[in-house]
Amino acid sequence: MKRGAFGAAISAGFLASGVAVPLLAAASQTAHRGDIAAPGFYQDVLPILQEKCQNCHRPGQPAPMALITYKQTRPWAGKIADAVRSKTMPPWFADPRYGHFSNDPSLTAEQIATMVAWAKAGAPEGNWQDAPSPRNWNTEWHISPPDKIVQMPEAVPIPARGEVEYTYEIVPLHFSQDRWVQSAELRPSSWAHVHHAVVYIRPPNSEWLRHAPVGKPFTASTLSDPEERRQAHETTSDLLLVYAPGSAPEEFPDGMAKFVPAESDLVFQMHYTTNGEAASDRSRAGLVFAKSPPKQRVITLQLNNHALIIPPEADDFRVEVQGTLPNDATLLSFFPHMHVRGKRFEYDIVHDDGSVEILLRVNYHFHWQLSYRLAEPRELQAGTKLRAVAWYDNSRNNPHNPDPEKTVTWGDQTSSEMMVGFFEVAVPAGMDKWRFFIRHDEPGGKTN
Ligand code: HEC
Repeated sequence: MKRGAFGAAISAGFLASGVAVPLLAAASQTAHRGDIAAPGFYQDVLPILQEKCQNCHRPGQPAPMALITYKQTRPWAGKIADAVRSKTMPPWFADPRYGHFSNDPSLTAEQIATMVAWAKAGAPEGNWQDAPSPRNWNTEWHISPPDKIVQMPEAVPIPARGEVEYTYEIVPLHFSQDRWVQSAELRPSSWAHVHHAVVYIRPPNSEWLRHAPVGKPFTASTLSDPEERRQAHETTSDLLLVYAPGSAPEEFPDGMAKFVPAESDLVFQMHYTTNGEAASDRSRAGLVFAKSPPKQRVITLQLNNHALIIPPEADDFRVEVQGTLPNDATLLSFFPHMHVRGKRFEYDIVHDDGSVEILLRVNYHFHWQLSYRLAEPRELQAGTKLRAVAWYDNSRNNPHNPDPEKTVTWGDQTSSEMMVGFFEVAVPAGMDKWRFFIRHDEPGGKTN
């Protein structure tokens, strides 16, 4: 396999498209519970809201309404029942048949049954004395207090309407020595306008966006160098973090961390969406350093296929790419990326006997870009065949499709498509991405 197809990070463009979410037979479960008293808000519903919903449904977060008090929640009872029964809330798109993920927020069948029964019973308040103590939402960081907070130096103005080109801001870190980052979190100042953000680590020797302004917002189309304009969305720089509404911060297991070379810059790539109200955003990234040097370094790799050509009107067009792992690595997480015609995305291991093991299958949704973290990191040996498969819906049945008559190829605007299967692996701490790609079986490819 060619090195280019399976390696360094490029951008994350964004948006993907929806597919119906399977229904769960919650109703039949409530039937068994017919003899039990109707659930009450304080005793039965509020604990579920605290555990699974309030991280988004509270003031200052992306969801449109708070679900903290009875008064706030009651008018939504019917919609809540619909949303949990159809599994549209909380948002999660992994096919439950494959893999286990530590950040899976799905409700249990019993929790769904409780919510549905509560709505059916007329959303009774119950007894306030049964209420759990209010969840103390950390208004600042979810990670432990950051050792370093990096804020975009200039606010980015966001118009009330229309599309906003990806906006970049380059921020020098001024680290005089190399650093290991144990956890990292992005906090937008205007939550409602940030569709996604990717923060890259640009090492001092990187040529990427070298002529772009530092400390000021800019977009690719404003760059004077045509080559730099073209490459704005493509980089070999490693990712520090990916943010989307509701996404959990990056927190690496003990003994694993991201490497930030001395004198690196952070490059914020922001995708803003408009919502009728003009605003401005100055996002911050919080970094917690590892307390001791880690054993393993986390790097973000990708399986991508630039050669995709999606015919007009195709409603289930399949594109795949395979790669062979050049060295041993611990597989940690996945982050699939497509645009508005995306329908499904899958990561597989193709075993030597030809059998295929599905690691993750995602039913894509236009609004949500999520990462999927393995509940149990998986040791993979050099030579393991990894495969990513994407399916696209270029038909007119796809409500997000801007033009079903178009033959769609690779491009960073959402009218074009992408096929990128990002995934994180941990490798020995002394290895960098380039050494990871040196194969023992390649001429001149001896390592260690
Ligand atoms: C990751 C963030 C997130 C989590 C977690 C989440 N929501 Fe939402 N919710 C949203 C956002 C954003 C919207 C509005 C946009 C949309 O509907 O997709 C929304 C919309 C809704 C709606 C309105 C749907 C409609 O028909 O208008 C309901 C009801 C709802 N959520 C209930 C819940 C419940 C109940 C939970 C917990 C079991 C939950 N949500 C968890 C982010 C979240």
